[in-house]
Amino acid sequence: MEVSISVPLPHSPYQVKIAPGILHHLGDHLLPLKLGKKVLLVSNPEIFEYYGKLAIESLTKANFQVSVHLVPAGESYKTPESLLAIYNSALENYLERSSTMVALGGGVIGDMTGYAAASWLRGINFVQVPTSLLAMVDASIGGKTGVNHPKGKNLIGAFYQPRLVLIDPMVLSTLPTREFRAGMAEVIKYGIIWDEELFERLEQTEKIDDFASIPPELLQLILARSCQAKVDVVSQDEKESGIRAILNYGHTIGHAIESLTGYTTINHGEAVAIGMVIAGKMALKLDLWKAEQDRRQKLLIQKSGLPTEIPSQIDPQDVLESLKTDKKVKEGLIRFILPKTIGEVIISDKVSSELIVSSLS
Ligand SMILES: NC(=O)c1ccc[n+]([C@@H]2O[C@H](COP(=O)([O-])OP(=O)(O)OC[C@H]3O[C@@H](n4cnc5c(N)ncnc54)[C@H](O)[C@@H]3O)[C@@H](O)[C@H]2O)c1
Ligand SMILES: [Zn+2]
Repeated sequence: MEVSISVPLPHSPYQVKIAPGILHHLGDHLLPLKLGKKVLLVSNPEIFEYYGKLAIESLTKANFQVSVHLVPAGESYKTPESLLAIYNSALENYLERSSTMVALGGGVIGDMTGYAAASWLRGINFVQVPTSLLAMVDASIGGKTGVNHPKGKNLIGAFYQPRLVLIDPMVLSTLPTREFRAGMAEVIKYGIIWDEELFERLEQTEKIDDFASIPPELLQLILARSCQAKVDVVSQDEKESGIRAILNYGHTIGHAIESLTGYTTINHGEAVAIGMVIAGKMALKLDLWKAEQDRRQKLLIQKSGLPTEIPSQIDPQDVLESLKTDKKVKEGLIRFILPKTIGEVIISDKVSSELIVSSLS
């Protein structure tokens, strides 16, 4: 049951292929792209331990010459130093313009490898093999690549499209449950901003808070519809000038929560889940959507094992301050993505500080 989604970008179209077990055929899927022989596989030690051998075997069988570069796991290694180490591997292994970097990992590996591929020799081939749910439905699609600067996240980066995204849902079996749920927050986001049917399918499923409870066909559908939603949005707005902003639903408050909790106790997906609940409350107060819709959103988030309440130690005033330093406030008004119904959001420039604080309390 392979699903193939086309990303119709004018200069660099590519496919997102989704199928259980597709990692076994990684090499075969690279052949039609007419790439050079050399592949640098970039991963982290945990993920490489699970899937490295399989990826190498498949690439070697398809006659690619594979070298491996591992970066320690975690956001704290998404740095210029790690990037330099990837360049060193590229140099040692004589990568050429026709060579390919394959990212096997979560969003950290994907973003970093993408930027290394974008910049090495002014751009070599790049293939994404995302292994976390978040990377599958979000980070691997859309062409944003980069690393962090000590002063801020993703400050060093480029838009650079992969030649192919290959998604094997089976690898999610080893993803820690908390990471799986974090990815579900983005899936629910697509349901609210774009795809009512996806939302309803999740509502109709009894248990969605871990990989093992979700039937394979449903997981395939979740991945396909989420990827399609992201593709639809980014292909209308490749460089983020307009509609792409709706992908930030739940993220405005989410980012403030992440930053106020020091990026430790609450992960990105959890913060986004809380952010969506707060955006829902705001929409309710503004009469944009109905109490029933607000209730359904909250229930689905709860069912995914995600939090819905802002941590009690966070002061609503601090959230407001954090939004202000984030330069998101103009003349007391702030830009928010708010839900209108399940499957549609609007971009509002008219949210007042009072509304934010009252929705947070
Ligand atoms: N480019 C974009 O558009 C975009 C969008 C969203 C997020 N991001 C970036 O993505 C990053 C977050 O991605 P993430 O949530 O995947 O984090 P991550 O890459 O750190 O992965 C999370 C953890 O799960 C582990 N892991 C991943 N897949 C696994 C598997 N199959 N089995 C076992 N363990 C596995 C990783 O080793 C890591 O410890 C952030 O740096 C963020 O900035 C980028
Ligand atoms: Zn996100």
